[in-house]
Amino acid sequence: MLTSGKQSLQLFSLRGSLLTLAILTLISFTYLSLKYSTPSSSSPQVTLANGLFTTEQKEDEELLDIYHSPRVFNLNFAEMENKFKVYIYEDGDPKTFYQTPRKLTGKYASEGYFFQNIRESRFRTLDPDQAHLFFIPISCHKMRGKGTSYDNMTIIVKNYVEGLISKYPYWNRTLGADHFFVTCHDVGVRATEGLPLLVKNSIRAVCSPSYNVGFIPHKDIALPQVLQPFALPAGGNDIQNRTVLGFWAGHRNSKIRVILARLWENDTELDISNNRISKAEGHLVYQKRFYRSKFCICPGGSQVNSARIADSIHYGCIPVILSNYYDLPFNDILDWRKFAVVLKESDVYQLKQILKSIPHAEFVALHNNLVKVQRHFQWNTPPIRYDAFHMVMYDLWLRHHTIQY
Ligand SMILES: *[C@@H]1O[C@H](CO)[C@@H](O)[C@H](O)[C@H]1NC(C)=O
Ligand SMILES: *[C@@H]1O[C@H](CO)[C@@H](O)[C@H](O)[C@H]1NC(C)=O
Ligand SMILES: *[C@@H]1O[C@H](CO)[C@@H](O)[C@H](O)[C@H]1NC(C)=O
Ligand SMILES: *[C@@H]1O[C@H](CO)[C@@H](O)[C@H](O)[C@H]1NC(C)=O
Repeated sequence: MLTSGKQSLQLFSLRGSLLTLAILTLISFTYLSLKYSTPSSSSPQVTLANGLFTTEQKEDEELLDIYHSPRVFNLNFAEMENKFKVYIYEDGDPKTFYQTPRKLTGKYASEGYFFQNIRESRFRTLDPDQAHLFFIPISCHKMRGKGTSYDNMTIIVKNYVEGLISKYPYWNRTLGADHFFVTCHDVGVRATEGLPLLVKNSIRAVCSPSYNVGFIPHKDIALPQVLQPFALPAGGNDIQNRTVLGFWAGHRNSKIRVILARLWENDTELDISNNRISKAEGHLVYQKRFYRSKFCICPGGSQVNSARIADSIHYGCIPVILSNYYDLPFNDILDWRKFAVVLKESDVYQLKQILKSIPHAEFVALHNNLVKVQRHFQWNTPPIRYDAFHMVMYDLWLRHHTIQY
């Protein structure tokens, strides 16, 4: 019994790897074919009349700043908007853990917004035969909100998904490869571990994209963690106010944070606080520091993900990612090196030297790109083009190419 369970697990993971390979191949073919089918110099805009490329070459160049390939993104985005359909399983009482968001505020708001947005978007279809992907609408954030124990969460998810598998024909057609679930709360990792085939086969959109919790790049999606609502308006075009080289304040709940604080807490150029800034220090003191700083340090905490990255983007402070093995949100679309500084944890010892060695012109370019990227990390209801919801949908759209029925 044990052996056969293990064998079927291995089978699933083999299938998972094959799928990953298939996605990779498809993505590279799509990329290459678009690249080589671009008409040559004389009138490059003509065939791309559907969006951002109708205007000046200048805008084209500007867009090159933040995307790996603005052309591919633009074409695929338009196609996605026209065609992409998602079926939401209707099972599950919205008053318990299913279908609707728990809330649209707090640090897990990304999960709530997705649940809200998918229902009010053009992507929803009520006809499963039209669907490219199937959404499993169980909310870990809601389970957490109702005080469900970890053990019970695992059982609830398992029963729910197994119920869908036995009731509908859709899962078995692809062993779940065209199914996805969304969870920003880190309990999602715990809640889904009772059903390995869910984690291995379907697409996970999660706020905790580190490899030690089973995140599979190219299959899964790194959902940005965005603390909502923002306390202050977005920053931008305010370089003259950014007089502090680097800023971090937070809990020392990981090794890298302890080292960061120990090395730099008394530095006169880096504003590194040994602890969280307490409310007693004044109204929104923490947020205002983002406005005054050039670079905001984003070290991994007990979980690698944190709302600090999205805060930095919102307030116009260039995020300095200080982490090993972490998939940044939308990193298959956005070129993070164009608006962030991505470092290894061991770079913490040279942090000040690294930041000081960035020439002013490069800092300005990073800052300007950061402002352009802000809309991709904003949630709205109803959703609007190019916002965080659409970026997640775009990532899902890329992944649906794996299997089609
Ligand atoms: C867990 O589930 C059991 C059985 O349904 C129930 O009696 C118990 O109250 C639940 N505990 C929590 C904390 O949800
Ligand atoms: C899907 O496959 C599982 C495992 O073989 C089976 O138990 C289930 O009944 C199937 N679902 C449907 C709808 O046939
Ligand atoms: C710079 O800071 C000052 C003082 O806080 C503020 O009044 C001003 O609006 C800021 N400038 C910009 C461009 O944000
Ligand atoms: C920072 O200053 C405090 C208080 O003077 C001192 O106890 C601490 O050792 C200093 N840290 C470093 C890294 O120099």
